[in-house]
Amino acid sequence: MSAPQRLLAVETSCDDTCAAVVDRDGRVLSNVISSLAAAHERYGGVVPEVASRHHVRLVNPVIEAALAEAGARLDDVDALAVTRGPGLIGALLVGVSTAKALAAARRLPLIGVDHLQGHVAANFLQPDPLEPPFLCLVASGGHTLLAGVREHDGFDVLGRTLDDAAGEALDKAARLLGLGYPGGPAIERLAREGDPDAFELPRGMGRNGGLDFSFSGVKTALLYATRDLGDAETERRRADLAAGFQAAVVGQLCGRLERALEGGDWEAVALGGGVAANGSLRERAAALCEERALRLKLVPGELCTDNAAMIGSAARFLDATAYPEYLAWDARV
Ligand code: KG4
Ligand code: ZN
Repeated sequence: MSAPQRLLAVETSCDDTCAAVVDRDGRVLSNVISSLAAAHERYGGVVPEVASRHHVRLVNPVIEAALAEAGARLDDVDALAVTRGPGLIGALLVGVSTAKALAAARRLPLIGVDHLQGHVAANFLQPDPLEPPFLCLVASGGHTLLAGVREHDGFDVLGRTLDDAAGEALDKAARLLGLGYPGGPAIERLAREGDPDAFELPRGMGRNGGLDFSFSGVKTALLYATRDLGDAETERRRADLAAGFQAAVVGQLCGRLERALEGGDWEAVALGGGVAANGSLRERAAALCEERALRLKLVPGELCTDNAAMIGSAARFLDATAYPEYLAWDARV
């Protein structure tokens, strides 16, 4: 089947309801994101059932908005794409069922996309798409990995987290410090006023661990530091604690990135996933690549955090499933 001219993509794997229209050259014609973060703030994290219910309410209006912004109707779309996993099962099912129904109503083909491949494929979008091969650090709320990208339709996992994801660690640290959800942006804001060296927090597995990551040590260290300080001092030193925690997470991410670059022959580097929106990570990665005269691709923040344009981008390079085969599809956790 030839590549579609215009794709309508849907992404509901976590707590953002997203739809986008992308053309076959990777131009983003619309990219609508309805974040449920505000609904989750009072819980300090994502509540799967709350996320699923919001997706049910928002998915149709978000798709309509994406079509309207692209100046398109469903008749102008020649395939649909949807995130099949990994993610929250109830949340994924909303997107998968909606995409199946829309595609089936028009007898259109449907393309199932892996969420992580989506984060990688954000780098294939216009303007200035990055061509493989490149090394991609994907750091989100659910995953942290180093991806060796040699093709447009897949990647090799060179290293991954053995416990928490980087974003998950930032979210938990933010909760411990009494900051809002999502924690990454809250920590980043507060860290600007703090001294990253005021508290020495461990930066993962030191020289061990190959290309794998671990964030449980730094999380425990922060917990002990706040216990030692007590509530009032923790409150007073929050900016220093946030700065120290962010430096530890970014330090580990960049340490592993550096190690992977030393062990490979990569000429280009990309970042992906929500944590890639972090200014400190972007700066450190830029310095690292400049020292080595490597190209660094940084997509805008709204293409780092969850969105459907990246799903449409990935779908351009994957096989489409014809009607009615996809009607039997399930989501993959
Ligand atoms: O990719 P994403 O939107 O969703 C998942 O696939 O998980 O990533 C969300 C994660 C959250 O943990 C959030 O705290 C983190 O990305 N994040 C950030 C920033 N923006 C989002 N972390 C650090 N700095 C940011 N500016
Ligand atoms: Zn994601």
